[in-house]
Amino acid sequence: MSPTRQAGDTATPEKPCAYRAQLLYFKARPGDTPEDGSTVWLSDGLLVVEGGRIAQVGDYRQLAASLGADVPVVDWRGKLIVPGFIDTHIHYPQTDMIASPAPGLLPWLEKYTFPTERRFENPDYAAEVARFFLDELQRCGTTTALVYCTVHPGSAEAFFTESHARNLRMAAGKVMMDRNCPEFLRDTAESGARDSEALIQRWHGKGRQMYALAPRFAPTSTEAQLAVCGELAQRYDDVFIQSHVAENQAEVKWVGELFPGHRSYLDVYDHFGLLRRRSVYGHCIWLDDMDRRRMHETGALAAHCPTSNQFLGSGLFDFAAAQAAGQSVSLATDVGGGSSFSMLQTMNEAHKVARLSGYHLSATTMFYLATEGAAQSLDLGGQIGTLAVGAEADFIVLDPQATPLLARRTAGSESLEELLFALAMLGDDRAVAASYAAGRKLHQREGSPARSS
Ligand code: GUN
Ligand code: ZN
Repeated sequence: MSPTRQAGDTATPEKPCAYRAQLLYFKARPGDTPEDGSTVWLSDGLLVVEGGRIAQVGDYRQLAASLGADVPVVDWRGKLIVPGFIDTHIHYPQTDMIASPAPGLLPWLEKYTFPTERRFENPDYAAEVARFFLDELQRCGTTTALVYCTVHPGSAEAFFTESHARNLRMAAGKVMMDRNCPEFLRDTAESGARDSEALIQRWHGKGRQMYALAPRFAPTSTEAQLAVCGELAQRYDDVFIQSHVAENQAEVKWVGELFPGHRSYLDVYDHFGLLRRRSVYGHCIWLDDMDRRRMHETGALAAHCPTSNQFLGSGLFDFAAAQAAGQSVSLATDVGGGSSFSMLQTMNEAHKVARLSGYHLSATTMFYLATEGAAQSLDLGGQIGTLAVGAEADFIVLDPQATPLLARRTAGSESLEELLFALAMLGDDRAVAASYAAGRKLHQREGSPARSS
């Protein structure tokens, strides 16, 4: 974490500070027309932050006049402020093995994932990776993520300690795995539940930290483990649940063999009480319509991970089927199966995956899904994912001129959709000029100065 200080942007979260830029946030899912009231887009806006929250938001000309003379105004004109991105599925222990080649999910888990996750026996290594991982999220403009740790409770401890020190709003949890994995990564139904519960009590609701129960996926848990996980989910009904479902055809077949008698892979989780609000399932590629409707009924959320799905050759998420079933969908990187930490690159690939099934996923919709949409689906609406007054001040500054090509393309943008589309297709960490969490600047890209006044 090495933010570059600049004149005028000396914001501490307690004192008011204002930011002048284009502003964009959403009140609802964008429809087909820009005038449907879902999208707030201010071409010359002012965002006033105080006490780590958004205090005022509006048109610069209207708000500036009433702004106290002692409130500094950071001038980000020419840039676009949006809520920080929300990544709903990512593995911090896989940071060091991103971009590892393997012919599909199961061999990739065996050859790279499990040996890398073993290294988290060492708390010093875990702490060092947590620091790098959070730096990388900040560089990419992600201010909230649902994060898998490893089976080691110390991996979650290291992650939460670092996230809490930065005052980030993060959800994370120790992985639970009591079979079909190497002995060195195995817990038991009992120890997994005990360790998870101790972590919930220690971290859930401490500052901005939130706990996510993490049975890795059905093949690595016994029925006994899924049952105790379901009990914990019932007892602690505001913690998150995160797992993987229907990612890969070989995996789906394996689940059929391990859990005979269930209608589908998703039904295994349903049987153990693991489908509910605040449950988030990665991938959801090989579901059928009954599964999709069941996710809708229970309030479970799909985390679509397009870079991972293509990288591992898992399959193509079906947006049209999800929409027809009313299934809630969010966007996620799934690092290290995913090949980028950037939610902009994730949008790029989500758009292409959608195109391949004949579906048009607009950039405006993708920005919604990565901010307000994810917050609503996670029951964090009004808290994060928005620039509305009262929300926690997690926001990022995007630079439409970050690269020569972006500058050239966005100079010709004729609509908000074209601007966002260019950022999604051509942008990555370079397009993130700065990231703020709870009103504090945690990252500023070198060579992206704001002006002060
Ligand atoms: N399924 C079970 N574990 C994993 C994992 O770590 N990554 C992905 N992409 N799929 C999984
Ligand atoms: Zn994953």
